[in-house]
Amino acid sequence: MSDRVYIFDTTLRDGEQSPGVSLNFHEKLEIGLQLARLGVDVIEAGFPIVSRGDFEGVKMIAEKVKGPIIAGLARATRGDIDAAWGAIKVAENPRIHTFLATSDIHLKYKLQKSREQVLQQAEDAVRYAKQFVSDVEFSAEDASRTDFDYLCQVVERVIDAGATVVNLPDTVGYALPEEYGDFIRRIMERVPNMHKAILSVHCHNDLGLAVANSLAAIKNGARQVEGTINGIGERAGNASLEELIMALYTRRSMYEKDLGIEYKEIYRTSRLVSSVTGMAIQPNKAIVGKNAFAHESGIHQDGVLKERTTYEIMSPELVGLPKTNLVLGKHSGRHAFNERLKELGFNLNDEELNRAFTRFKDLADKKKEVTDHDIEALVKDEIWVIPERFKLQYLHFTGGSTVVPTATVGLMGGKGLVEEAACGDGPVEAACNAIDRITGLPGTLVDYKLNAVTGGKDAQGEVVLKVAVGNLTVLGRGLSTDIIEASVKAYVNAINKAAYEITKPDPDQVGGVVEANGNDDNGKNPG
Ligand code: KIV
Ligand code: ZN
Repeated sequence: MSDRVYIFDTTLRDGEQSPGVSLNFHEKLEIGLQLARLGVDVIEAGFPIVSRGDFEGVKMIAEKVKGPIIAGLARATRGDIDAAWGAIKVAENPRIHTFLATSDIHLKYKLQKSREQVLQQAEDAVRYAKQFVSDVEFSAEDASRTDFDYLCQVVERVIDAGATVVNLPDTVGYALPEEYGDFIRRIMERVPNMHKAILSVHCHNDLGLAVANSLAAIKNGARQVEGTINGIGERAGNASLEELIMALYTRRSMYEKDLGIEYKEIYRTSRLVSSVTGMAIQPNKAIVGKNAFAHESGIHQDGVLKERTTYEIMSPELVGLPKTNLVLGKHSGRHAFNERLKELGFNLNDEELNRAFTRFKDLADKKKEVTDHDIEALVKDEIWVIPERFKLQYLHFTGGSTVVPTATVGLMGGKGLVEEAACGDGPVEAACNAIDRITGLPGTLVDYKLNAVTGGKDAQGEVVLKVAVGNLTVLGRGLSTDIIEASVKAYVNAINKAAYEITKPDPDQVGGVVEANGNDDNGKNPG
């Protein structure tokens, strides 16, 4: 193979811009660490100017995630660049990613600036960022709808100013593969200093073409592709990295590009992002959907049994799908449990293992067969915890078609055990009302999903819900063989997250963080 394509992951920035997604530090860190295991080249950890939370999240990833380049996004202004640098400077390999829109439509309506002003601002921003760090990426927002000659000028000027990567996004997902490929080829041919920088692409999926457009760009000279795990992101999302990666691998004779990816981490990364963001993966989603490797038709099953490649173009094991769904039970020991955890990709420390094993034993008492899905759900439930301000001690409820549903809840907190009772439309609402009375943090249920972890009447129910507390929206998760209990645990988990976010101490060092708005706004929330 000849050259390398760099994978730039923006799950924590563009992905976090998905409607309703908001991640806390622990969740961001889990994703950041897993992206490093996956072997992505760049992690865009966030947009530090936007809020204190974003700043701190980026800073924590810069401190703790080793291996990939850590990028912080900044509009083309000094304040943004200062904040980005403040957050990423502790990284092993920091990158400032600054952007400015270049299409006439953005210049006229959003920026109210002339082409000359924007050209100058782009150059100034890159020069300014260069004072802090050698690795500077410039993105020409809405590049695919920008006047071609003008865009060439912008690209040339920012490379002269020191940009090491130039990104030409299809911000609104308007491009078509042939057209976008051709556009990249012409840029490569026309910009005289293009060889001094890496050409990057960043495609949105409004027409469902983000991956196809990115592949066309690679065919024509792009050497960095930006995208997100599971394709999450603004509106219809970004190019889905697992699809891009597997297209480049499966059709490697067409592309002849090397990647630094650890393929067997793909499935786990996808599951993690889905769990943490609460964005479910459609069953027929390529590569990581539940049905991606399932063969339903008899003819297909027969073919695969005779020779796998009759109907499978890649092996499920390659992307890390567990080979077998091994069943454990109440006689399984700690060693077998730990071995299975490792096979599923979880490396727990002793304390985490003890907690998970206790939960496993409790579950095995209630449920004859404990499957991989049960174990995965249980580890997520037990390990990914934030400090628990309130802990569910007990729950009692009554309901039915002829009585008013009532719940009594006992929560252990700073004031010891506090109990409350309340009524509601159903036992879940009754319990949530009782919890609101105890915590003094009334929540509004914005979204609620119940999923059976496995088949069977004794299956565990996993509840994922979104709760708005004031102007915060948090995700809660709960697991139990009793779905009312799972719901209540999820609600308590969400309230704990909200309490944690509301009361966590202010960081000392959040210089330059402002609310971005006003006329000099270059577009606080890019696509
Ligand atoms: O879609 C877009 O243009 C962006 C840029 C900030 C890279 O997200
Ligand atoms: Zn984008």
